[in-house]
Amino acid sequence: MLSGLQFLDDVLIMIPVCTRTHMYICVCNGITDREIRSCVEQGACCMADLQRELGVATQCGRCAAHARELLQDAEQRHGSPVEHA
Ligand code: FES
Repeated sequence: MLSGLQFLDDVLIMIPVCTRTHMYICVCNGITDREIRSCVEQGACCMADLQRELGVATQCGRCAAHARELLQDAEQRHGSPVEHA
């Protein structure tokens, strides 16, 4: 085992565990944050793109605000302009 609590020379150390999981953003369509980030990496730059490509925010719309946050986050990470429509 490479993660968690381990002894090293009789000293108990903690090795970080990678707990990266995927979070559902759009429950209606079963779309995760990973899928949205991937879509942005492939060129999506606005909500209309996410709606067309993934169906995000096309039903109840409760995911729209969080999806926009992911778009803005992608803009900061990739330095590419993201439309906020
Ligand atoms: S949660 Fe995305 S449309 Fe309902």
